[in-house]
Amino acid sequence: MKNIIIGLMLAGTLLQAAPYTQADRVKDMTTLAEAMGTIQSGFFYNNYETVEVGIEQLTTTIANVRPTAEENAKKDVMEKYMDKKFQMTNKIVKKINRKALTILERFRNGDATQAAQAYTKIMGQCMKCHREIRNW
Ligand code: HEC
Repeated sequence: MKNIIIGLMLAGTLLQAAPYTQADRVKDMTTLAEAMGTIQSGFFYNNYETVEVGIEQLTTTIANVRPTAEENAKKDVMEKYMDKKFQMTNKIVKKINRKALTILERFRNGDATQAAQAYTKIMGQCMKCHREIRNW
């Protein structure tokens, strides 16, 4: 039993230790763009399952988005500066998740207009981050 627990703890540490690179983040961004496209075609084809697939992809991927290991290494020098961006990132991610839920609820209830509005708000959050965060 003890060995299993230690094994699990080690596995957890190893997973966390995998550095998040810029290439990983660019890949996540591509996935986010894909997810937005999937949600949109769910709207157009009036297909709830497609919207759901896109939302799932969006919310699981946005959870990864963070400064890269390299950017984190610079933390000491610009800690204060970066903290503001961290806070902003957390806020944006929360907002995107909240609006993603709204899309599911509204679309399921046949309120396509409100669903599309939530979609537009998510797009606004993507762009807000791109405007304000070039490097962490
Ligand atoms: C927390 C900040 C943040 C959020 C939120 C964010 N992005 Fe990005 N995005 C970035 C950064 C930073 C880059 C530049 C690539 C890099 O340096 O990792 C980028 C680049 C991109 C790119 C270009 C990737 C490439 O091939 O160069 C796409 C596409 C993209 N984002 C889509 C999205 C979409 C769609 C959303 C919203 C669902 C989104 N992003 C939300 C920070 C963010």
